[in-house]
Amino acid sequence: MNKNVIRHNFQVTKKERNQLNNHSSLLIWFTGLSGSGKSTIANALEKELLQNGFHTYILDGDNVRKGLNSNLTFSPEDRTENIRRIAEVANLMVDAGLVVLSAFVSPYQKDRENVKQIVGGKNFVEVFVNTPIEVCEQRDVKGLYAKARAGEIKDFTGVNAPYEAPNNPDIEIDTSKTTLEESVQIIFKSIAQKLNLKNE
Ligand code: ADX
Repeated sequence: MNKNVIRHNFQVTKKERNQLNNHSSLLIWFTGLSGSGKSTIANALEKELLQNGFHTYILDGDNVRKGLNSNLTFSPEDRTENIRRIAEVANLMVDAGLVVLSAFVSPYQKDRENVKQIVGGKNFVEVFVNTPIEVCEQRDVKGLYAKARAGEIKDFTGVNAPYEAPNNPDIEIDTSKTTLEESVQIIFKSIAQKLNLKNE
């Protein structure tokens, strides 16, 4: 399909951008149920990273679905397309030299594996926000669990659509047991090596 499109190689490289920033690029991929705490942790971690001189950006499900992916539903096919587009955007941001934090339910194993493939394993960290559904449902910050239980939302993850938990996440956090500050420190410590240019 793309046989007449030939990639152009530009002179400024990712390596040079990383050197200018004085850190490596990375995609920190948060996956978990709605209400598990993905965006909250990503938000707090981004602040910590920024204060420590890292160049960052957050991609978040609710926000991206209002813009780039506003034409997509929550059907399995559209979720796959949602995650594929995010992966391509994240890949550009990683190439641009950023530490990207992404918060998407991303319920399918194969979609998350595809993200890792697109950005490359060494640029990818998977954080499984494994908060029990009972806790997510009790929080119900957006009132969506109540709507899903009432049958007003079909395909709602955890209620009437599946969530395939990661088998071997880099980091796992249960926000019913770990405070926000602790979660940030756990992730920050765990990614420090990957962000250090000396380890390139
Ligand atoms: S994903 O499954 O395609 O990765 P994404 O992270 O973009 O989902 O969007 C999830 C957000 O959309 C949830 O945090 C929730 O606020 C909202 N939402 C609305 N409908 C659904 C649904 N059917 N399933 C899951 N989340 C939904």
